[in-house]
Amino acid sequence: MTDAFALPTRFGTQALGGCYAPETLMQPLLDLEAAFCGALADPAFQAELKAELRQFVGRPTPLTPAPRLAEKLGLKALFLKREDLAHTGAHKINNALAQALLARRMGKTEVIAETGAGQHGVATAAACARLGLRCTVFMGVTDMARQAPNVARMRLFGATVEPVAAGQGTLKEAVNEALRAWAGRCTTAHYILGSALGPHPFPTLVRSFQTVIGEEARAQVLDQAGALPDAVVACAGGGSNGLGLLVPFLGDPLRRLAVEAGGHGRALGEHAARLDGGRLGVLHGCKTLLLQDEHGHTAETASVSAGLDYPALGPELAALVLDRKVEVRRASDDEALAAARLLCESEGILPALESSHALALLSALAAEGAATVLLGLSGRGDKDLSTYQSRLEC
Ligand SMILES: Cc1ncc(COP(=O)(O)O)c(C=O)c1O
Repeated sequence: MTDAFALPTRFGTQALGGCYAPETLMQPLLDLEAAFCGALADPAFQAELKAELRQFVGRPTPLTPAPRLAEKLGLKALFLKREDLAHTGAHKINNALAQALLARRMGKTEVIAETGAGQHGVATAAACARLGLRCTVFMGVTDMARQAPNVARMRLFGATVEPVAAGQGTLKEAVNEALRAWAGRCTTAHYILGSALGPHPFPTLVRSFQTVIGEEARAQVLDQAGALPDAVVACAGGGSNGLGLLVPFLGDPLRRLAVEAGGHGRALGEHAARLDGGRLGVLHGCKTLLLQDEHGHTAETASVSAGLDYPALGPELAALVLDRKVEVRRASDDEALAAARLLCESEGILPALESSHALALLSALAAEGAATVLLGLSGRGDKDLSTYQSRLEC
């Protein structure tokens, strides 16, 4: 059935990705791919997306030099790509808005989404309000508790938030429920997946709508520093901000790094570092690097950061890692929290807990000889205030 698709469905030498979807979803996925290809080729869609990104989202987001933090870490220069300054406070809006425009183009009246940290849910709810689409967001109960401000924001934007109590009550279970709901309502509803995950064409679609981050950042760093950095680094949950930042640098002679959640330990169940104990498997419609127990069951994960707390790395990012085009590292909960405090005190910027994982790698990069680093600050930390307050005693 995957042969029916027009675009490549697989990534890298290990052919990751694919479309492992139930029969009921095959036609909606084919329709989605056709709509996506049609939209990409349509100058009117491109113009509307560009205008909305500028006027509603606030693009281009700035590239901010962080000289005080750079000095403390032993770097010559550090540049922060400020997705925290995008409307709704994270990179998620780039994809949510573009897919909402696509949903309207397909004649859908309703949008279904899942969310972990709540940023994708908030972005989708905002985009739906802007475009007059009904919106239902599935969210695990654990995530609802730790990201409560985002639950309120989604509701204020008119979205229905459906609590998901199954399993750990985190992103994996929310995706399960969203896919199930979409299968039942796919004639009227579009499913806006929030990361570069899921069955084809979602990973390609999400990456394509997020590469605006790296395209802007590459031009900005050349303009501001007159040269490319030694390293570009982003955090990795499913991989959407990572791909968005790193893909436009794939042809450049520099280090590209993605940082996973090291949680609070090395044992399975204590982290979400898929490169450390993950093996190839299928989850949520795609083949990728997946944390599994010895019986092949999807493993539990742990991270202080809801947005990185997911057992699979998206297939395209996993392929880039396995093919050695991107390096993967891990940062523990404590390292991410300490890195967040350092950025706050040095530069007056409160990062999302997810982004703090990328920040936590900076001292190691300096020790390994990197002089200039460009870091994707994927989101702002307001949603994480209660965690920062309790864990950093502030
Ligand atoms: C601010 C922020 N950064 C990063 C992520 C991780 O997702 P992804 O790997 O798709 O960028 C999330 C997920 O919710 C997030 O909210």
